[in-house]
Amino acid sequence: MGIINIKGKTFEKYIDNEEINLIIKSLSQKINNDYSGKEICFIVVLNGAFIFATDLFKQIEGLPTISFIKLSSYDGLSSTGKVKELIGLNTDIKGKNVIIVDDIIDTGNTMELIVEMLKEKKPSSLEVCTLMFKPQSFKKDFNIKYFGREISDEFIIGYGLDFDEYGRNLKDIYQIKNDI
Ligand code: IMP
Ligand code: MG
Repeated sequence: MGIINIKGKTFEKYIDNEEINLIIKSLSQKINNDYSGKEICFIVVLNGAFIFATDLFKQIEGLPTISFIKLSSYDGLSSTGKVKELIGLNTDIKGKNVIIVDDIIDTGNTMELIVEMLKEKKPSSLEVCTLMFKPQSFKKDFNIKYFGREISDEFIIGYGLDFDEYGRNLKDIYQIKNDI
């Protein structure tokens, strides 16, 4: 099952679940070291990050908390650059050690906005954690302290990431196969 077709696009297997598990293990070890003895408040960006955040959260030591926000800016294959409102933040993060968790950082537009909005709520620390990072399209200057893997600019799906809402259930990550 190396090839998946969704709505006329072909995707081929790119990063398998075993590698994803290793990436998450290494990320959780870094976070556990950096925050030893401190409480972490994870803020997860829905929908894409829900599977990653679940697997990461289970490997965090101590008494972390988790809550979920939503900010929709993405339409099909390319980023519109327009970002809508932030929904769902009902936790008081003032004085907390916050880590924002997302599936992928592409241009960084979405995350930059979330970082700015959350900074206003005066957390004592604020870091960013993403499973996938596309450095070639990243145009911002905020720090991404935790990223699982750098990838090329091609569109990916699986492990929470979607193409028009499909593909989130795949346990491996697939990359779009461009027509020859
Ligand atoms: P950015 O604002 O350009 O950084 O895009 C951020 C959001 O777009 C991510 O949180 C994803 O939800 C979505 N996105 C970016 N690249 C991909 C991709 O390759 N596959 C699926 N979703 C993506
Ligand atoms: Mg997302």
